[in-house]
Amino acid sequence: MNSIMDRFLIRDRVCVITGGAGLLGYKHAEAVLAGEGIPVLLDISDTALERAKSNLLNDYDGTVETYKVDITNRDQLQSVCDALVNKYGMVNALVNNAANNPKMEDESKNLGNIRFDNFPLGIWMDDMAVGLTGAFLCSQVFGTQMEKQRSGVILNISSDLGVIAPDQRIYRKEGVKEEDQTIKPVTYSVIKHGLLGLTKYLATYWADKNIRVNAICPGGVENGQPEDFKEKLTNLIPLGRMADKNEYQCSVLYLLSDASSYMTGSTVIIDGGRTCW
Ligand SMILES: NC(=O)c1ccc[n+]([C@@H]2O[C@H](COP(=O)([O-])OP(=O)(O)OC[C@H]3O[C@@H](n4cnc5c(N)ncnc54)[C@H](O)[C@@H]3O)[C@@H](O)[C@H]2O)c1
Repeated sequence: MNSIMDRFLIRDRVCVITGGAGLLGYKHAEAVLAGEGIPVLLDISDTALERAKSNLLNDYDGTVETYKVDITNRDQLQSVCDALVNKYGMVNALVNNAANNPKMEDESKNLGNIRFDNFPLGIWMDDMAVGLTGAFLCSQVFGTQMEKQRSGVILNISSDLGVIAPDQRIYRKEGVKEEDQTIKPVTYSVIKHGLLGLTKYLATYWADKNIRVNAICPGGVENGQPEDFKEKLTNLIPLGRMADKNEYQCSVLYLLSDASSYMTGSTVIIDGGRTCW
């Protein structure tokens, strides 16, 4: 058996990361490069993909692949899989990371004051399409390739809100009418809980094919949120702070590598202790 540190290396392993040009997707790609693997970034934004690739290659030796793909489109995913198999012979890992990620603290798209009672069906469908159907399709396409290889790893990116309900009180703003208060959309809870179901289902379904499937549940990453919001959130976190965006990388590499060879179907909660309280 390799030495303990060697077991964290994923040398030349092809690791597909959905939403790879986003905040955490980029960090997962760094973790793959640090393990000497090959990150394959899938994202809908061309310019973000180009920027991510150039920044990664500035900081790391290695290979970075990017594909402009909508993960809700099975044909596009199959083309990526075929291209990777053509070039590398295998797809070793899949990180189901992409999601419509509602930023609750500002006025960005897909959020805000959408109450459950009148939550638009269109947003429900769109969020499900990316967060759950996208993970389902990627698992189907890349997992089927792993099945042929009889090896592979899938890592689903859930959330602390995959195991607890959002505390809507932290999003409240003084002086705003009840019906205009911002709340975390129902889709976020359903998708993040759903990914844990997908994790357990696939872990058992593919156990005899040597495909391991696990999930991480990250807590909120500090990313320029307003101070008053941060204070309300960090009061709910025993470690008393939000996560730094680099604090999930070691767990990601661990779960993608042979260091976690006896783990499948697991949910790894990395939340500063929030879900203990
Ligand atoms: N940031 C946090 O604090 C936090 C906390 C817990 C969990 N998470 C989870 O981590 C994951 C990444 O979050 P993030 O903060 O990096 O979000 P992000 O919005 O920065 O990144 C998401 C990426 O997904 C891409 N994407 C969206 N729809 C797509 C589609 N149809 N096909 C391909 N790509 C698509 C976006 O272009 C974007 O680059 C999400 O699943 C999120 O729910 C984030």
